[in-house]
Amino acid sequence: MPVATQAAIKGLTPQQVEALGINLILNNTYHLNLRPGMKILKEAGGAHKFQGWRHNLLTVETFPSIHLRLVCLVTRSIDSLQDSGGFQLVSLSKFTKITEEGALFASPFDGEPTMLTPEESISIQHTIGADIIMQLDDVVSSLTVGPRVAEATQRTIRWLDRCIETHQKSGKADVQNLFAIVQGGLDPELRDQCLEEMIKRKDRVAGYAIGGLSGGEEKDVFWRIIKQCADKLPEDRPRYSMGIGFAEDLLVCVALGVDMADCVFPTRTARFGVALTLNGPINLRLSKHEADFRPIDESCPCPTCVSGTSRAMLHHIMTLETAAAHAVTQHNLVFQARVMGGARDAIINGTFPQYLKDFFANYFGDAG
Ligand code: GUN
Ligand code: ZN
Repeated sequence: MPVATQAAIKGLTPQQVEALGINLILNNTYHLNLRPGMKILKEAGGAHKFQGWRHNLLTVETFPSIHLRLVCLVTRSIDSLQDSGGFQLVSLSKFTKITEEGALFASPFDGEPTMLTPEESISIQHTIGADIIMQLDDVVSSLTVGPRVAEATQRTIRWLDRCIETHQKSGKADVQNLFAIVQGGLDPELRDQCLEEMIKRKDRVAGYAIGGLSGGEEKDVFWRIIKQCADKLPEDRPRYSMGIGFAEDLLVCVALGVDMADCVFPTRTARFGVALTLNGPINLRLSKHEADFRPIDESCPCPTCVSGTSRAMLHHIMTLETAAAHAVTQHNLVFQARVMGGARDAIINGTFPQYLKDFFANYFGDAG
């Protein structure tokens, strides 16, 4: 799912997104509640109409980083541009306080404290009218240890019950699909407890997200938690790994049993001039592209590649015109859809193992 935090995929119109063949995007409840606000969204007749989006929409409440969170800006060197960022410590915890009642956060506009309860979160998502709505969860950074992780996990289960109740009573349960969010940090026992409780509620839950990951933990720890959750979650409910966007991570998650994912990565990295390809990401700002007249990827069906727009042209306008970011954003979204759509086709055709082998050989090989 491409991420349209503020009801717009940065740099693209909804018509452009539609033309790429994308049929599910993500909006952020927290942001839409602040701006344009529920009054306007109600008058507009919901967020689909407001943003001119005729396809599916998922809304999720992700606060501007609930707790101390390590944001890994660049986890691997991209296209020989070494040391392109490293780690940045981002703390916005002082803006948010979690109590049993809900999440208390300071408005970024006037600092006024506002309490957001599970009931309100669901009610806001009803007004927004998304096809998939997410429970309010108590998330801690995946690097948090100690009793806070257990507290957040158990609270997330209690909040799920409050979300289910509000949703069931609203009469919207037939038209909007409520997903639970499995928490439990990196602790397999807590994950098991959370899974057990949430699976008990299966009849009132349309799908399950695996949350609390992708916050700087080791890959093998991340994989084990994904596997544990995917193995136990019901076969007949979609599984959504939250905040996952690197192609290699997506494919490992799919191999372990995940169906859907979201991340700002493909659109954000496009704005930094990085195009995703089957041979790995390429940084179009590097001067080595200045006389490279090939498109980003000759086999790509996106409007940027099909039109023959060259790497040289993109390199030239990357620092001059926002059109370069638009062009690379379209390419990157099509790339993500090809990686996931290719995985889906391969699973259906019984060729997924070969698909994985080919993907990893190309992506990490020296073919590029
Ligand atoms: N985005 C990435 N991970 C999470 C999570 O665990 N919960 C929520 N609400 N949003 C997320
Ligand atoms: Zn392309």
